[in-house]
Amino acid sequence: MKDLKDKVGVVTGGASGIGFGIAGALADAGAHVVIADIRGEKAAQAAGELAKRGVRTSSVACDVSDRSAVERLADHAWSEFGHVDLIFNNAGIMSGVGPLIDAKEEDFRWHLEVNVLGVWHGCAVFGKRFQEQGTPAHIVNTGSEHSLYAAHPFGGCYTASKHAILALSDVLRLELPDFIQVSILCPGLVSTELVRSGEIRPDRFGGPEQIDEAVAEGSALNLGMRPEDIGKRAIKGVLRGDFYIVTHPHNRPYIEDRYNEIRNAFETQAPPFEGDEQYDMRKVIEKMLEGL
Ligand SMILES: NC(=O)c1ccc[n+]([C@@H]2O[C@H](COP(=O)([O-])OP(=O)(O)OC[C@H]3O[C@@H](n4cnc5c(N)ncnc54)[C@H](O)[C@@H]3O)[C@@H](O)[C@H]2O)c1
Repeated sequence: MKDLKDKVGVVTGGASGIGFGIAGALADAGAHVVIADIRGEKAAQAAGELAKRGVRTSSVACDVSDRSAVERLADHAWSEFGHVDLIFNNAGIMSGVGPLIDAKEEDFRWHLEVNVLGVWHGCAVFGKRFQEQGTPAHIVNTGSEHSLYAAHPFGGCYTASKHAILALSDVLRLELPDFIQVSILCPGLVSTELVRSGEIRPDRFGGPEQIDEAVAEGSALNLGMRPEDIGKRAIKGVLRGDFYIVTHPHNRPYIEDRYNEIRNAFETQAPPFEGDEQYDMRKVIEKMLEGL
């Protein structure tokens, strides 16, 4: 998509942080914006704020972990604007910092339901409608540097959930028609309210968490990049058609370390041999599909 003027973008988790940054960059590019967030009132305020930039905006209270709520979000967006061109599956949470072997199961489930199922709901619900609509469309999933390597210890549930977003984004781009592009946004530290996620933890995952103000204020997140800059980079990535949208250059050597470790494992344990391609799953499946 080379021009976003009068396109329509839906941003989940758009009431604050990176989502609001993306929504602002969309509006600056001339796109109309639907802000969806579990915090409906905050989403309405955010939409009101953006409307001052001269585009049409709308807001919806939506819990992305509930598929029917995401269907209602799509119904709203299409009935309000007639078409939708971009979905940013950005809503996410982070909590329960500590050793992975001590993680609470309910906390892990919360990460999976919001960060993974929530993103998949957006991909599935909007992806189907984009296919029916038949016009150029773009799905942008907010992953993280944690999608690309284990950035640090003591955030295992979060890291696992963000790796899953890379996996499902990568599969989607193999499966969807060319007119629907897919990207994964992989920021590092950004100054947002993510550290306060526990305040909105639903009862089924243990209920709201009292956030220690000293911890929240001392959080490394406060040292991060500005969400509006991440939003601008996300939109640049969309306009360029990038799959990986990256923002923090310090990540690169860590990712190269991971790649080098895997490459070395192949060199020492699994060197090429005559006929090894017969086990190439991608080629095997391609052949099977050709035969259908
Ligand atoms: N802040 C960072 O350093 C950083 C880095 C990389 C990736 N991310 C990712 O960016 C995304 C946005 O996070 P942020 O840092 O802007 O934090 P944030 O807390 O400021 O924004 C997240 C938004 O998502 C909403 N939300 C939470 N659960 C929801 C649900 N079930 N349904 C709908 N909305 C929900 C929140 O109300 C909030 O408005 C997340 O996916 C996060 O994992 C953040």
